[in-house]
Amino acid sequence: MIVNQDIDIAAGYIREGRLVAFPTETVYGLGANALNPLAVAKIFELKERPSFDPLIVHIASVDDLDKLTVNKDSRVLLLAEKFWPGPLTIVLPKSDIVPDIVTSGLDTVGIRMPNNPIALELIRKAGCPIAAPSANKFGRVSPTTAQHVKKQLPNVDYILDGGKTQVGIESTIITLNENGFEILRHGVITREDLESFVPFHSGRDTSDSIVAPGMLKSHYSPNKPLYFLGDVHLNDMQRSNAGLLSFNTTDTEGYKIVIPLSNSGNLREYAVNLFAAIHKMEESDVEYIVAEPVEEHGIGLAIMDRLRKAAFRYRG
Ligand code: TXA
Ligand code: MG
Repeated sequence: MIVNQDIDIAAGYIREGRLVAFPTETVYGLGANALNPLAVAKIFELKERPSFDPLIVHIASVDDLDKLTVNKDSRVLLLAEKFWPGPLTIVLPKSDIVPDIVTSGLDTVGIRMPNNPIALELIRKAGCPIAAPSANKFGRVSPTTAQHVKKQLPNVDYILDGGKTQVGIESTIITLNENGFEILRHGVITREDLESFVPFHSGRDTSDSIVAPGMLKSHYSPNKPLYFLGDVHLNDMQRSNAGLLSFNTTDTEGYKIVIPLSNSGNLREYAVNLFAAIHKMEESDVEYIVAEPVEEHGIGLAIMDRLRKAAFRYRG
């Protein structure tokens, strides 16, 4: 495995049908030529990802949207113009050139243009759209540094090191169907941000139910139990074996490790630091992770979605 910053070499690997982990603004992706089914199959193998969980296709120019989808809806183009490059994935009816393995047999494909200069240059130099899930083992915490990728996927051919990612949690995923737009996964681009340009499906949003294969309730699982602050009462002994991911609380005495996620009460900062903090707790000798919950609106929805999934496995 090579960890380096040479985009030409990495692009060559993609063209040869090999895998490259690369930085995006959200988390690191594990990329392959999206139009090469054999290359894409290697992603599922290396990640140990079930084949029913479709991949996001990353593009570097809005023109590629035309090639990959059969949707010409002007509202989609408006959102693309306003939010790309950026952490927004749009699920649309796919064109014939998108291999079934990318979409797990669905007739839709998730597409986004990442806001990271290394990712964009990689896609341009490779000369093809790049299919990429987050570069972690299936169901585990997403990587926000090249070192996180190395830890989970030591057999990846090439890791493009672009330092720490800027957003820290995965893109907002939306879809357009007969009812209008719907959110499938929350991210730092909020429903309110999107609604200032296009109307959204009224009321219900679907991110709580499994509407897509792969949107499983347990995900992002750390290798030790994660609880919400307030849900558990740790005695002194337990506290001394626990790590706290803190936000507003001042009750931080007695924990083995305390990682403040934001010193200024800023939810964007919470999101940026969350996965790196969980990776740190995984590597430490704490027995439990305790995370401070946040209010569920705006970016708080995305944060609580990730935390609930991380905590799920350990709930009674
Ligand atoms: O920020 C991100 O989105 C990162 C970076 C690398 O771009 N990628 C990412 O990919 O989070 P992944 O594979 O870890 O999560 C993608 C999610 C999956 O839950 C998958 O089920 C859903 O997107 N998805 C992909 N294509 C879909 C489709 N056609 N319909 C519904 N859901 C889809
Ligand atoms: Mg993922």
